Amino acid sequence: MNRLISSRLPLAAAPMAGGPTGPDLTAAAARAGAFPFIAGGYKTPEALRGEIDAARTLGVDFGVNLFVPEGRSPDRAAFRAYAAELQPEADAYGLTLSPDPVLDDDHWSAKLQLLTEHPVPVVSMTFGIPDPADIAALQDAGSRVLISVTSSEEAESARSAGADGLVIQGPQAGGHSAVHDPRRTPEPAETPDAVRQIRSRVPLPVIGAGGVDGPDAARRILDAGAEGVVVGTLLLRTDEAGTSPTHRAALSDPKFEETVLTRAFTGRPARALRSRFIDRHHDTAPTAYPALHHLTKPIRAAAGSAGDAQRLHLWAGTGWRSAPEGPAARVFEWLAEGADRSEGAGQD
Ligand SMILES: Cc1cc2nc3c(=O)[nH]c(=O)nc-3n(C[C@H](O)[C@H](O)[C@H](O)COP(=O)(O)O)c2cc1C
Repeated sequence: MNRLISSRLPLAAAPMAGGPTGPDLTAAAARAGAFPFIAGGYKTPEALRGEIDAARTLGVDFGVNLFVPEGRSPDRAAFRAYAAELQPEADAYGLTLSPDPVLDDDHWSAKLQLLTEHPVPVVSMTFGIPDPADIAALQDAGSRVLISVTSSEEAESARSAGADGLVIQGPQAGGHSAVHDPRRTPEPAETPDAVRQIRSRVPLPVIGAGGVDGPDAARRILDAGAEGVVVGTLLLRTDEAGTSPTHRAALSDPKFEETVLTRAFTGRPARALRSRFIDRHHDTAPTAYPALHHLTKPIRAAAGSAGDAQRLHLWAGTGWRSAPEGPAARVFEWLAEGADRSEGAGQD
């Protein structure tokens, strides 16, 4: 029995905020024997509560993922310069961008209160480490607390703060990097190597995420010592994912040739299909999350509705070409072939 994720398969459905993860994908993952993570990011506490209530009816353990808020305030001059640079992109849709940064903490306190009053089996957190008292409060309520990390240093800090376990995210992962300092760009590395290295230094159980493109990749992460494998990108085109039509279409469009890590959309490193928006703005985007997330949101919303993939944040990990259509259960069955061949298969 895994200590961190208690599903039948050593596989977890990644929390994917912004649309892809919703109740249908959570239910599909649970039914397939994978561990479902609900994406708490960007949601109101009320909407999150609704998803938690729906997950409780599934009769399995599940996790809720939160964004740890960023303490830094953005450089206003750099923000304004970037807003001016992006205005021509907004002009394409008749939008005017505000030069004033919008900051928020993604309802951090209200979400913590929700999870301490209505505990869930697992709470995972990305983008940083909260106050140890917040971790302790969730544990006292009965949750296991996992922190996403990208380096041994972050892992050690998570251990010191009291985390029960780690989600080790390799830089091949789709979407936002979990780096705790968004000024840092993760070094190229294979997820199994990151798992081995961090496990050798920090004595906590781990699950591994990033770059899974099939059963062999899943097996290698398990062989490196992870208790489970987190799958994101391979689920993006499945029937139950809430991925937008423009994003889905781009994931199978041969015109997209690579993924890159960029701050251009949100001010935090995130891996996406390389597009013209990234080519134009990657070098100038300041490190200013969530201000840039809010700045580009209207452009991205308009681009999504218009089918304009070149201005949309097309989050994707390096395994994107292997992401299939069809039921999510098929992805988990396919990856389970790798789990069965893992050296650790069948061990308690
Ligand atoms: C569209 C998308 C949205 C994501 N949103 C979140 C999120 O809300 N919270 C989080 O911790 N990780 C998020 N991630 C990262 C995943 O949790 C996971 O680390 C990653 O998908 C694993 O790599 P893979 O995409 O190569 O499978 C997201 C990834 C994608 C592709």
